[in-house]
Amino acid sequence: MKRFSIGFIGSGFAAGLHVQAYSRVPGFDVNLHAVCALELQEAQAFAEKHGFTKAYATVDELLDDPEIDIIDIVTVPKEHVNMIIRAMEKGKHVICEKPLNGYFGSGHDDKEHMYESVVAELDRLKAFLATRKERLFYAENYVYAPSVQKIREIITATGEKFLLLRGDESHSGSHAPHAAQWSENGGGSLIRQGCHPLSALLYLKQAEAKRRGEHITVTSVICDSSYIAATLREDERGSILSRPFDVEDWAETIITFSDNTKAVVSSGDMIVGGVRNSVEAYTSNGCYEANIAPNNAMMCYHSDASALDGVYLTEKVETKAGWQYVFLNEEEMRGYVGQFEDFFICLKTGKEPESGFALAYETMQVLYASYASASSGRRFFLE
Ligand SMILES: NC(=O)c1ccc[n+]([C@@H]2O[C@H](COP(=O)([O-])OP(=O)(O)OC[C@H]3O[C@@H](n4cnc5c(N)ncnc54)[C@H](O)[C@@H]3O)[C@@H](O)[C@H]2O)c1
Repeated sequence: MKRFSIGFIGSGFAAGLHVQAYSRVPGFDVNLHAVCALELQEAQAFAEKHGFTKAYATVDELLDDPEIDIIDIVTVPKEHVNMIIRAMEKGKHVICEKPLNGYFGSGHDDKEHMYESVVAELDRLKAFLATRKERLFYAENYVYAPSVQKIREIITATGEKFLLLRGDESHSGSHAPHAAQWSENGGGSLIRQGCHPLSALLYLKQAEAKRRGEHITVTSVICDSSYIAATLREDERGSILSRPFDVEDWAETIITFSDNTKAVVSSGDMIVGGVRNSVEAYTSNGCYEANIAPNNAMMCYHSDASALDGVYLTEKVETKAGWQYVFLNEEEMRGYVGQFEDFFICLKTGKEPESGFALAYETMQVLYASYASASSGRRFFLE
């Protein structure tokens, strides 16, 4: 069985999701070898909890470890590009969390300038990658959600054209201070959440183009974004956790493709009722609804929420009382297991990843085109 040794940069929330998924990938022997984080104690605690052999104090020490085949970058977004380059220069393959890059100044800076600087960085990274033998994998789990893969399978079988694609990721927000800051995340709900369904829609459109032998690109976007919950008084905030400093808590983007079909991406940090992760696709003969979360594979009713204190039902639901959508096999259904399986197969066979640099590039371009459109109030044309 092919064995891969992994080194994590970052030991926070997403790193925990990755650990759970690695342990379920079939057909490969995964060695969770080493981890580093901002604080050595944090990395050590994570290593101990999840059975990593080593915890390092610095990124350089981790990258110098000859046992590591793959660096898994699960740090805050502003570190991603720098770490990809450093890891590859040390001969490591790289898995990088979303978003691939971003603009990490103030949310009040000029949005067209943001777009240009993000695209310029992507072009520099593209040129760098062209010189390397190491592989870059973009950890966009939505691409690998079984329901999204089923839509791809159907469209590949039928050769249908997507007339409209729609995606949403919303919830009641993050209380993490970094989620409020453009300088940490490169934006608000659109980049933190909308990024996921956006990549899934772009991926499906490219699958359609490939099947039909067409060349399809994004030609323009129209976006509106806002800090909507700012209108609430302190005593009216209810279950909403987000407290934006200079980012949006809601965005809606309409994408026009070169074949004049459309896609709509919604994201909200002020939508209560648990996490909503969905992708929809409409053709001349079919409707496809990928309800990643919530889904009704299992429903649960309980009248006493406190009795379920130690029981996980689903992410970000405000109460466990009443009827609940229980999320079963979450690592598989959200695509984390499939994503790592695909990356390992790519390394074993030379196959191209379903989610790689090209998808990350288009995602970042559309995200910042959206911010430019929202700020100007006009349609933004991509070159
Ligand atoms: N795919 C998903 O479902 C999903 C979910 C949540 C987050 N994410 C993404 O994962 C990434 C991490 O998010 P998170 O929620 O885990 O954040 P987090 O704040 O919980 O963890 C970040 C980790 O990175 C480490 N870190 C930060 N800067 C570092 C540096 N310079 N050197 C070494 N370590 C450093 C921190 O010590 C921490 O361990 C982000 O890009 C985020 O968008 C993806």
